Amino acid sequence: MKAVLSLSLALLSAACVCAHDLASVKRVTNLPSVANRFIVEVAAPADIPGKRALHTPHEALYRSLRARKIGFSVHKEYDAPGIFVGAAVTLKAGGFASLDVANILSTDGVIAIRPIHSYARPIPVSLKGVAPGDAGLPDGQSTHVVTGVSKLHAVGITGKGVKIGILDTGIDYTHPFLGDGFGAGFKVAGGFDLVGDNYTGANDPVPDPDPLDQCAGCAAYSSGWKGIIGANPGNPFNISGVAFDSTIYAYRIFGCTGGVNDDVIVDALLRAYKDGVDIMTLSLGGASAWTEGTGTVVASRIAHAGKIVTIAAGNAGSSGSWFTSGPGNGIDVISVASSDNTVLPLQSLRVVGAAHDPITYYATFALPINGTLPLYATSNDTTVVDDACDPLPASTPDLSKSVVLIRRGTCTFVTKLANAAAFGAKVFLIYDNGNGFSAIAVGDFQAVLIQAEDGVFLAEQLAAGVPLSVTFPQSGGSVQFPAPSGGLVSTFTSYGPTHDFYFKPAITAPGGNILSTLPLTQGSWGLASGTSMSTPFLAGSSALLLSVKGKSAAVARTARTLFESTAQPISSSHTDGDPFQTVTQQGAGLIQVYDALFGTTKLSPAELILNDTAHFAGRQRFTVKNTGKTIKTYTLSHVPAGTAVTVNPGTIFPALGPVPLSTQYATVKFNKGKFTLFPGQSQTVVATITPPTGVDATTFPVYSGFIFATSGTETVHATYLGLAAALKNKQVIDNTDAIFGVALPVVLDTSGAVQAAPTNYTFVGADAPVVLWRQAFGTAAFRLDLVPANTPLTGTLNKRAPEISFASAHKGGSFAKVPILGNLLEIDYLPRNDEAFTDCTMKADSLDNTVQLSNTFANGTVIPNGEYKVLLRALRVTGDPTNEADYESWLTPVIGVVA
Ligand SMILES: *[C@@H]1O[C@H](CO)[C@@H](O)[C@H](O)[C@H]1NC(C)=O
Ligand SMILES: *[C@@H]1O[C@H](CO)[C@@H](O)[C@H](O)[C@H]1NC(C)=O
Ligand SMILES: *[C@@H]1O[C@H](CO)[C@@H](O)[C@H](O)[C@H]1NC(C)=O
Ligand SMILES: *[C@@H]1O[C@H](CO)[C@@H](O)[C@H](O)[C@H]1NC(C)=O
Ligand SMILES: *[C@@H]1O[C@H](CO)[C@@H](O)[C@H](O)[C@H]1NC(C)=O
Ligand SMILES: *[C@@H]1O[C@H](CO)[C@@H](O)[C@H](O)[C@H]1NC(C)=O
Ligand SMILES: *[C@@H]1O[C@H](CO)[C@@H](O)[C@H](O)[C@H]1NC(C)=O
Repeated sequence: MKAVLSLSLALLSAACVCAHDLASVKRVTNLPSVANRFIVEVAAPADIPGKRALHTPHEALYRSLRARKIGFSVHKEYDAPGIFVGAAVTLKAGGFASLDVANILSTDGVIAIRPIHSYARPIPVSLKGVAPGDAGLPDGQSTHVVTGVSKLHAVGITGKGVKIGILDTGIDYTHPFLGDGFGAGFKVAGGFDLVGDNYTGANDPVPDPDPLDQCAGCAAYSSGWKGIIGANPGNPFNISGVAFDSTIYAYRIFGCTGGVNDDVIVDALLRAYKDGVDIMTLSLGGASAWTEGTGTVVASRIAHAGKIVTIAAGNAGSSGSWFTSGPGNGIDVISVASSDNTVLPLQSLRVVGAAHDPITYYATFALPINGTLPLYATSNDTTVVDDACDPLPASTPDLSKSVVLIRRGTCTFVTKLANAAAFGAKVFLIYDNGNGFSAIAVGDFQAVLIQAEDGVFLAEQLAAGVPLSVTFPQSGGSVQFPAPSGGLVSTFTSYGPTHDFYFKPAITAPGGNILSTLPLTQGSWGLASGTSMSTPFLAGSSALLLSVKGKSAAVARTARTLFESTAQPISSSHTDGDPFQTVTQQGAGLIQVYDALFGTTKLSPAELILNDTAHFAGRQRFTVKNTGKTIKTYTLSHVPAGTAVTVNPGTIFPALGPVPLSTQYATVKFNKGKFTLFPGQSQTVVATITPPTGVDATTFPVYSGFIFATSGTETVHATYLGLAAALKNKQVIDNTDAIFGVALPVVLDTSGAVQAAPTNYTFVGADAPVVLWRQAFGTAAFRLDLVPANTPLTGTLNKRAPEISFASAHKGGSFAKVPILGNLLEIDYLPRNDEAFTDCTMKADSLDNTVQLSNTFANGTVIPNGEYKVLLRALRVTGDPTNEADYESWLTPVIGVVA
């Protein structure tokens, strides 16, 4: 069985690990797929000899299901031979767990059956509407300059003749800078609405031919990414799309609210393929870290067939490694990371009463405050560490007409603001204490951060008895502030690699703080951040490539290698001497479109995947070709990236983002470090890569780096990625009490308490056991099986249990010689759970997995009354599914079925 689940995209900025109350666990199954709904893949007629005349592969499937008395209804048929033939079906049996995989898989012509994932709608990490009067917006072209796109525009390369399919919320084509029309001859020339306004992912789609998106509210974020591809130049912001002469086909797969499911994504991918688009781009995803999943697999097959497919890597950077998004994990897809724009549009205030330059404050828009207000400092000491952390003295004057100045430090901003608000304060300036000039969390207060030296100046003046006032200019106060993180990988970018060790993300494009189009109903223009922004940048870049090199499948298939080998590796910080950022977050580096198109050296393959120590491939070959017109001499060199310490030392938990980097690097030797090539000539090089020594394998360090081939001013590179540990040694099931204060896994009884003693359940309503577990790491096979109550086995994870060594291989009907009575649940390719939360009082769905058991086996057959236990098993990554020793297991207390 090929079944995949993915957890919804976590959009989080800060991170903490904190204990959660067991009472917060929902007594429902929380797996992020649609209950009972699956996509069954069948062989195309041509692949079933002799069957063609009888019936279509779909009919063959339905007959076979009926013959086996499997109740089902069909939602969608797919018929794209060579890419995907199958159907989305709902199986009518029992509870959520009902899936008689073995039975369906043994049906003639069935290739795979996968659950249908749900994906949350894409939400940028940040988004603000902007108006043309706002003079301090980032230079619209800054992203084009750093990627070489401006140089291509300058010579008239703008993507003409290339069709880009955008799969997401639809498009507001009435926007004057998106062509103001729909159909042949317009910029938005085609597409389809696969879902309708009312679609939420939980109801049936209502398709219509018009992909117009003018939903109110946050539904319309994604118009931004059409502007990144296609905005016409000559607009008030002086920005243009990367490929503004390309033709857009818009496929709407989100309604005005809610998410989308795999069945619709597959439908849209196949429709775009049939419409003959050259490029498909999807700014959506959910953490999965596996290359499986129907949407993921179909996207990859379309890329393999010769289309360029760009998909967001995800915005879950705070969650740490092994967490990139599906469908971006598709093997042949280009998964896109984000880098921050080099400038930030901020605002400034004026000081009255002392000579001082305007003071920059951290806000995109001016604080809406009229007039001149006196300034009051809560402390005259500019080194105070806990300014306003305690209630202010009773002698504090009425602050309702003042702007209050407070120094950052010790307690939360909100605590400080609330203490000043107790004296009527409404407007606040917080000055930095060296922590860094960045966005801060101030709740509902009107408070902004200023830089330390500005705050010290103001406080010193006040302490000296100089009365000061400030004004907040409502226009003309914006400033182009050099972004401290400008040019670096956006911290929100999800980290790879995948559990099956694929190179995800592949490459970086600008996606942090990007100015682009919004629907007219949303104010037309906005500033947004997210891998949803970098992904269309890559799609636009791909259009430039195809418009120059031709739209053949051969060119499309080499696009990723071309972009990766010419990209520019990105540092981990702006501090000299710091290493490059780990490849697990930046991929091969920042895209350099001009170099990819006009460079005269080709290098392939661009990804050197060394895998883990158990499957180590340290000898790698790559080829350098001189495609120029002159003789070139190449020198090879190696520069490592920081080694990602992916698991916290001494724990089984992932290190949260920003993932710590170590400077223990691999070493690389070449069989030929220098060589000369005539035009058209190539040289294959063998690189022998030795993993770093002295690393702590229990932290699962992922080492990576770049091998450069340099000739004069031209440089291309291969990027390598390896794990200095064996994946099979990574514990996959969380058996600690770190999250809920009780050691997991547990069974929760009807009252929600941990079941300790044998307990009977009627399986009527909520009177059923709930299995609660967490994946500390992903698993390719998770199973719950029913076993007799007197089972002598103790699972490998049960408390006080000695480690069991399994003598014989698993032969279906038994595990460790314990008879298995029947399967309750089987999930393949389950991602790990997430520990990163901004707010520790909230429980995110991705924190844990729960399944409420029913009194039926997976095939719908009712379990006879009696006493049982449930055996939970999860296969370690790279483990052999037929080898018992490769599973972690746990046994529940006795569960009585009294139905
Ligand atoms: C969408 O839902 C609204 C409210 O339920 C309903 O009035 C409208 O007819 C629906 N539209 C379509 C196209 O189904
Ligand atoms: C608009 O951008 C172009 C290209 O970067 C630049 O030459 C021009 O000066 C800009 N115009 C304005 C008004 O900023
Ligand atoms: C500031 O003044 C402008 C113009 O008089 C007015 O429109 C606006 O509402 C005022 N804003 C506040 C916050 O008082
Ligand atoms: C700071 O010093 C000024 C000038 O001496 C004085 O007026 C003010 O009350 C002092 N502020 C505090 C919070 O002590
Ligand atoms: C890494 O090795 C595992 C185990 O052999 C394999 O399943 C996986 O496909 C390999 N990954 C890549 C990217 O080759
Ligand atoms: C569960 O039900 C069975 C059958 O009614 C009974 O024999 C057994 O004592 C019950 N167990 C518990 C723990 O209540
Ligand atoms: C369903 O599975 C159970 C347990 O494996 C088995 O005993 C039963 O025969 C199966 N039912 C059908 C209809 O295949």
